[in-house]
Formats: sequence, structure tokens, C-alpha cells
Amino acid sequence: MRVPFSYLDRQFKAGLQGEKEQILDLILADIKEFVQTGDFTLGKKGEEFEREFASFIGVKHAIGVNSGTDALFLSLKALGIGPGDEVITCAETFIATAAAIVAAGAKPVFVDVNDEFTIDTALIERAITKRTKAIMPVWFTGNAPDMDEIMAIAVRHGLVVLEDSCTAINASYRGKHAGTFGAAGAFSFHPLKNLNVWSDGGMIVTNDDRLNEKLRMQRNYGLKSRDEADLFGYNSRLDTLQAVVALRLLPDVKACTDRRIAIAETYDRVFSNISQIQVPPRHAYIRHVYHLYMIRGENRDALLRYCQEKGVETKIHYPIPLPYQKCCNYLGYKPGDFPRTERDCRTIITLPAHPYLTDEEVEYTIETLVSFYRREMA
Ligand SMILES: Cc1ncc(COP(=O)(O)O)c(C=O)c1O
Repeated sequence: MRVPFSYLDRQFKAGLQGEKEQILDLILADIKEFVQTGDFTLGKKGEEFEREFASFIGVKHAIGVNSGTDALFLSLKALGIGPGDEVITCAETFIATAAAIVAAGAKPVFVDVNDEFTIDTALIERAITKRTKAIMPVWFTGNAPDMDEIMAIAVRHGLVVLEDSCTAINASYRGKHAGTFGAAGAFSFHPLKNLNVWSDGGMIVTNDDRLNEKLRMQRNYGLKSRDEADLFGYNSRLDTLQAVVALRLLPDVKACTDRRIAIAETYDRVFSNISQIQVPPRHAYIRHVYHLYMIRGENRDALLRYCQEKGVETKIHYPIPLPYQKCCNYLGYKPGDFPRTERDCRTIITLPAHPYLTDEEVEYTIETLVSFYRREMA
């Protein structure tokens, strides 16, 4: 059996709740209609998607941008963070988190993770200096960082919180949606995110009216109206065509997420009984959306090869600690600075957990891991 990690080909063929046609045909029909309007740049469909997205998340404003990276970068710029400033973030994340900080002209300051692949809040305060302006927690894997503690630290030190919730649409912490705790939250609609478009796309959410106004200018060259510019900005608008794709998929996000969670729970039940596997702690007050289903496993590299041989497509997110990447050399970090991130890079494995997996594929994936560790014990 082959269990694919990517689900795009299956998604195109799948249906949507209450619709008879395949997703592919539904979206192509929407695009055909849209193209004939010629309403491409900051078009009405983009505005409609922003409204729908804001309502889905439970925020006042949603500002469509070109990518999740730009959502972070433009938010930092709009919050006035730049050269000379430090932004605290998690050592275990995708490079885009830090790239956005660097693009804004600021310095990323990394903090190690806890056992749940999110920032260890006990280490944040010792990373704060006179130059610290913001904390950028990451909802890595679709899991919530300890937002109560992060907000309390931010208040104590007068820091801004900007959430990298790029992988966390429909995730929540104590009933509050990802991206809604700090000044702003960033989302990505990259093709492998839980709400995906047919290219790149991103969204910033905020309840702050002034920030909203500034961000709308920032993403559109700095223009306030067709002829007036209050600041120098960028060209980073959400492509209206991608908004058409997203509008079609948004109503199904909750059902798709529920299926991801159900698969993760099935995995957890079995894997928590295998002594060589470490399932991260789970919490009833967090809705973890499993953009990545990640566990730690003994003899990980052999497990990875075994899965490959058996046709189960697995990945490592990520094999090299971000602070030790060549691009971070100038920051002066050295091996030993982030022991938990280092441990994770050696032991983590991501299993397929997308909503288009069949029950048989989930079962086969479980059997593959069980048989690997049974062989190991023999
Ligand atoms: C944690 C995290 N932050 C930011 C991003 C950037 O999003 P995008 O690819 O839309 O720029 C990603 C994308 O994979 C991500 O995983």
C-alpha cells in the first residue's frame, strides 16, 4: 500500500459538503465566472473572502496578503518593528518565521521548545533585553503555545505579541482562536496548509482599527486611496483568484480539521502504548489541528527508511535546528544552546494525517510503526 503525505490530487477529486460535483470542477466553474468580471486586483471576491475569514476566526479585520511570510513581515513593519529591535521566537519552526523578522530589519532571538513543539515560556524572560520589542510565538504543527503565559510576560515587559499562526487555522486555546491573542496573527494558505489555495496566499487578522488601516496601505504600495500615499509600502495583495479558491474551501475547513483530529487521536491511542515512541502531551483546552502529526521515535532514521520501504510517506519538520542554519551564523548560536530542539531534530517524524486518508491507510500506517518497533525489540 502507498500512503501519500500530500493530498492535493485527492482533494481535487473529493466533494464538498452539500455539493455533488468534485472540488476541482466547482472551483474551475467559480474561476470561469470570476475571470469574466476582470475584477483581479483587490477585487470584490477578495473582500468577500476577507469578511468570511474574519467571521470564521472571530476578529474584526482580516487583510489578505501574498503569503504567510508576508503576513508576518508586513505586521512587523506596521507595528513599527525594525532595525535595532529584537523579536523573540521559537527555535523550532519553519525558516519563514525568522526570515520575516530579518526582512523587517530586526534580529531574531531564539528560545528553545518545550516537549510540545512550542516555545518554552519558562525561558522567554531570560531572552528579553533592552532591545526586545516583540514576542512571536509559533503555533507550530497546529498546536497552541501557552498563550496565557506569553500574554502575561508581554504585559509585564511592555512587549507586542504577533502570532505566527500560519499553520493553525481552526486551532484554539481555551476556546479562543489562533491569531487573536496579540496585536495581530498571521495565516498561510500555502497548498499544504489546512486551508489551501492553488498558489501562495496569506492573511493577517487583527482587532485593531489603526493597524488594519496601516496594513491595508502596507500591502498596496502604501496607497491610502488611488492617488494618495501616506507611507512607502509593498505590493503584497492576496491574489483575488486565490480568494475565489479559498472561498469555496473555507466552509469545509472545520469538517476537514475534525477528520485530521480524529486520525491524530487514533494514532495517539496506539502510539502512546509503544515505549519507543513519545507522543507529546495533549491538552483538553487546546484544539490542536495537526497541520503536522509529529511524534518522537527511537532509531528515527531507520524508522524513516522502513516507512519508505513500506510505502508510508513520512517527513522530518525539520532536520536542522534553525539557529544552526548557515543563514543564522551571524547570530552566534552554537550546538548545545537549544537542547530540546536538537533532540527533536534527531527524533521527530511526521506521519500522513490529512483528511483524505482512508481508515485502511491510517490502520496500515499504524501497523507499519508497530511492526518496525516489534522488529527492533526482537
Ligand atoms: C510556521 C510557519 N510560519 C510561516 C510560514 C510561511 O507561510 P508561507 O509559506 O505562506 O509564506 C510557514 C509556511 O510553511 C510556516 O510553517
